[in-house]
Amino acid sequence: MLTQSLTLGFLLLVSLLPGLASGRNSSQFLNPILPGFHPDPSCTFISDEETFYCASSSFNAFPGIPIHASKDLTTWRLLGNVLNRESQLPELAASVGGTSGIWAPTLRLRDGTWYLVTTMVQDKKAADDPTRWRNIIFTTQDIWNESSWSDAVHFDFEGYDTSPFWDDDGTSYIVGSHAYKVEPGNHLAKVNLTTGELQSNWTNLWAGTGGLAPEGPHLYRKDGYYYLMIAEGGTGLGHMETIARSKNLYGPYEPNPANPILTNANTTEYFQTIGHADLFQDAHGKWWSVALSTRGGPAFKVYPMGRETILTNATWEEGAWPVIHNPVRGAMTGWPLPETGHHLPGNGPLVDQGDDDLQFPPGCQLPPYLLHWRPPVKQNYIISPPGHRGYLGLKPSKLNLTGIDGNSAPGGQTFVGRRQVDTLFTYRVVLDYNPKEAQEEAGVTLFLTQNHHVRLGLTLLAASNTSSTLTPHFRFTTEPYSSAAPPFSVPVPNALQNTRLAMEIKAANKTHFSFAVARADRKDLTVLAHAPGEIVSWGFTGTLVGVYATSNGGNGTEIAYVTNWRYKGEGQIRSNSSSATRL
Ligand SMILES: *[C@@H]1O[C@H](CO)[C@@H](O)[C@H](O)[C@H]1NC(C)=O
Ligand SMILES: *[C@@H]1O[C@H](CO)[C@@H](O)[C@H](O)[C@H]1NC(C)=O
Ligand SMILES: *[C@@H]1O[C@H](CO)[C@@H](O)[C@H](O)[C@H]1NC(C)=O
Ligand SMILES: *[C@@H]1O[C@H](CO)[C@@H](O)[C@H](O)[C@H]1NC(C)=O
Ligand SMILES: *[C@@H]1O[C@H](CO)[C@@H](O)[C@H](O)[C@H]1NC(C)=O
Ligand SMILES: *[C@@H]1O[C@H](CO)[C@@H](O)[C@H](O)[C@H]1NC(C)=O
Ligand SMILES: *[C@@H]1O[C@H](CO)[C@@H](O)[C@H](O)[C@H]1NC(C)=O
Ligand SMILES: *[C@@H]1O[C@H](CO)[C@@H](O)[C@H](O)[C@H]1NC(C)=O
Ligand SMILES: *[C@@H]1O[C@H](CO)[C@@H](O)[C@H](O)[C@H]1NC(C)=O
Ligand SMILES: *[C@@H]1O[C@H](CO)[C@@H](O)[C@H](O)[C@H]1NC(C)=O
Ligand SMILES: *[C@@H]1O[C@H](CO)[C@@H](O)[C@H](O)[C@H]1NC(C)=O
Repeated sequence: MLTQSLTLGFLLLVSLLPGLASGRNSSQFLNPILPGFHPDPSCTFISDEETFYCASSSFNAFPGIPIHASKDLTTWRLLGNVLNRESQLPELAASVGGTSGIWAPTLRLRDGTWYLVTTMVQDKKAADDPTRWRNIIFTTQDIWNESSWSDAVHFDFEGYDTSPFWDDDGTSYIVGSHAYKVEPGNHLAKVNLTTGELQSNWTNLWAGTGGLAPEGPHLYRKDGYYYLMIAEGGTGLGHMETIARSKNLYGPYEPNPANPILTNANTTEYFQTIGHADLFQDAHGKWWSVALSTRGGPAFKVYPMGRETILTNATWEEGAWPVIHNPVRGAMTGWPLPETGHHLPGNGPLVDQGDDDLQFPPGCQLPPYLLHWRPPVKQNYIISPPGHRGYLGLKPSKLNLTGIDGNSAPGGQTFVGRRQVDTLFTYRVVLDYNPKEAQEEAGVTLFLTQNHHVRLGLTLLAASNTSSTLTPHFRFTTEPYSSAAPPFSVPVPNALQNTRLAMEIKAANKTHFSFAVARADRKDLTVLAHAPGEIVSWGFTGTLVGVYATSNGGNGTEIAYVTNWRYKGEGQIRSNSSSATRL
């Protein structure tokens, strides 16, 4: 089957909202504000700089814990990643399981120091195994310089979703969650944030209103109260945000009679699983909330971009409970957005930026939005290797993207990808690769985790069951196996042998992805396979598109050369009316 490639443009997202086009004093905005794999947001506004800053979780992805900044709450620039050197947190390299790694961070500025408090979770370990949780603090004085983030400083807490808080006298505390231990709830201790030393025992402040997994706590001090806002109901369809308050830090905490204060649970909204919120004020004192959400409606079956960051407005009058605007939708009206005339500094990419024609010239570094699964084995990624100027050379790892068991990957996996940030997109690279040993393989992948991804590679296989002659094949693999997209391999047609190939992944509609190939100098791609979005709708992360190289456990060492890396957004679906590509 032939398909026209890169018929871009006709579906391009054109904003219908006048305020967004002019960018002035509009109170209209679109969700998600951080599309794609940006779960568990924590955001804060720094009035001196008139800038909003957000952190999100990254699980096994490396570099990890992206920080985005915005002047107007709608244009978000990547400043860099808190976790950008393997030495900051060496144990991430040994993380086991697709839901392990960096869970919910909290980002706060205090007396000139930025604090990023989070947990490195080994999610396959038993709930009562203390080594399941490694709670850590990163600090910097210059959030715009990612190299300046410290190494991880550990503190003892057998839980997760840890968040710092400073009382009126300046004493620092951390509040964090236990969902699985004998006493679920949100626990507080006095902690020296420089050393991680505990200066008190942990005290359970509040276990929520009875929902599953009371977690994601943040403490706020306002009008003589301590407000403890948490998420409950689990991070799926029952997700919701609840709040309690007390005049004393250690409680007792009185729940808000109006709980939950933010949820789309039990609705037919397109945005679901809303919760894990944070609250902040803009320069005019108006309140806003961010939270995580998945797009795909209550069917909750196809949501490849995973948990994304949404924005909604809030009201918090003196002495009263905060009220957060429900329901969360793709097109929202809130408070007047800050004017966008202010220039957002830095030169990082915008969160929804595409890749026009990314190449890898000598001396360049991989841009900060290209991700590996766990810290990379650096020598397996070669910029402009001999004879391939402008290419990225990929040395094959022994392990393929599944790894030995779908969960661990000792020795590493050669893979680099970027986030899917549009419902509809085309991702395309040029691959120059001539496998020489049986089973060695390189290609493109739609990757959520080791045990949830799809890959189309070029490999060398026996010409037939009775032949020992090796010939190039295209091999298509889904992990886990899907009867809707069974694995296969087909011989590479003569016209596509010994030539550079274009390899493409396309979200052609909101439920299916296609995988196609062509000669690099041709525009007519042949679709080899389709895969349903369910395969990459699972767990806590969001889908990446990228390239990989592996010997599949064999003897292959042939480098795969990649260039002309393109990612083009072709439509953002923001509501449940299936034909909508704009809102
Ligand atoms: C824009 O909004 C701000 C804050 O709401 C207000 O101070 C300013 O006067 C408005 N500007 C215009 C041109 O309406
Ligand atoms: C960024 O931080 C690193 C590490 O602290 C430092 O060596 C470097 O000079 C800083 N760069 C700038 C531009 O400040
Ligand atoms: C935290 O530890 C640092 C380094 O030991 C120390 O200088 C500081 O005084 C401690 N802070 C508190 C509140 O104990
Ligand atoms: C923690 O509690 C134990 C006993 O429950 C007590 O002996 C210890 O002093 C406490 N530690 C701190 C730092 O308060
Ligand atoms: C949704 O409905 C279920 C079943 O009636 C109920 O248990 C749950 O509390 C509801 N959740 C919210 C947030 O309303
Ligand atoms: C679609 O979403 C709208 C609100 O965004 C909601 O009112 C409507 O009931 C939903 N329809 C379906 C069929 O789910
Ligand atoms: C959100 O903003 C709208 C104005 O567009 C306002 O009518 C509504 O009351 C606000 N909701 C909350 C909870 O602040
Ligand atoms: C991927 O690697 C695993 C573990 O080494 C192996 O069992 C599997 O056969 C490999 N897949 C392919 C397509 O070679
Ligand atoms: C080749 O081997 C595979 C797997 O062992 C088998 O499924 C297939 O039927 C064989 N094909 C032929 C033509 O014998
Ligand atoms: C989406 O694309 C797949 C693969 O081409 C196709 O089977 C499916 O019917 C399409 N869905 C819609 C709603 O067009
Ligand atoms: C790898 O090389 C060894 C030694 O030459 C050979 O025995 C083995 O069959 C090769 N493995 C593959 C998968 O080709």
